[in-house]
Amino acid sequence: MEPDTTRNRIAWEAASRKHVHEYEELLRQARDGCSLLDRELDLLRPVLRSAPSVVHLQSGHGLDDIALVAAGARSVVGVDYSAVAVASAQRRADELGAACRYVVAELPGAPLRDGCADLVYTGKGALIWMPDLRVWARDAARLLRPSGRLFVYEAHPAAPLWTWDEDEPRIRADRGYFDRRHVNDTFPGHGAVERQATLAEIINAVLAAGLELEHVAEYPEPFWRPDGVDAAAWRGRLPNSFALLARRGGAAP
Ligand SMILES: C[S@@+](CC[C@H](N)C(=O)[O-])C[C@H]1O[C@@H](n2cnc3c(N)ncnc32)[C@H](O)[C@@H]1O
Repeated sequence: MEPDTTRNRIAWEAASRKHVHEYEELLRQARDGCSLLDRELDLLRPVLRSAPSVVHLQSGHGLDDIALVAAGARSVVGVDYSAVAVASAQRRADELGAACRYVVAELPGAPLRDGCADLVYTGKGALIWMPDLRVWARDAARLLRPSGRLFVYEAHPAAPLWTWDEDEPRIRADRGYFDRRHVNDTFPGHGAVERQATLAEIINAVLAAGLELEHVAEYPEPFWRPDGVDAAAWRGRLPNSFALLARRGGAAP
């Protein structure tokens, strides 16, 4: 494992203990709410209508998996390298009787067979941990059955540039859109190294994996707002998240 990945995995094992401490609260949220955002559901609804088998890459606390099953998915297999996150996600899904199964594994390189998924779902802080997006996209594409979909809903690659000032949006002096990486100074903190890629690089990685792009959208809202922060950069003038839907060619079997 390369040094950044080792360091980040240690940071994520520590950060994922939050899912254990907040187990009951997350269980309540999973039971009573839907963690998928409206703009995700708008794009996913037609795909979910066919009761897809889903693979969720970097599944974290797994709330989205319970929401995907509730919205129509036949089953979800979550893959994450945090054993702590996987154990609490599996316990919660079992408790709620949701058809979710979890695997501890480093990505890319999911230990799942080729063509096992109708939908590969990922995002909400996932791509920044992938050292090579072309390898990631190839791994996602190989998991798809012919005509299966890749769905990504992520932080916009420009979002790390915005300060969290509440009066005016500003650009951080220590960040650049074309930088390759920066050290996380918020969550999960402790020096985890986040990768950067431009929107064009993300799209080109998906195209290079042989997938057909069906939809790309940019949104002013961030996918996540830390408690107590109301940054001016999130109030509509700047891009903060994006979604991407791509399809593997070929007819469904
Ligand atoms: C910000 S969380 C997002 C998780 C999920 N999308 C959610 O909303 O809960 C990022 C997740 O990626 C996982 N992760 C980071 N790098 C990984 C890697 N190389 N292989 C597998 N999992 C990884 C972390 O353990 C963490 O659970």
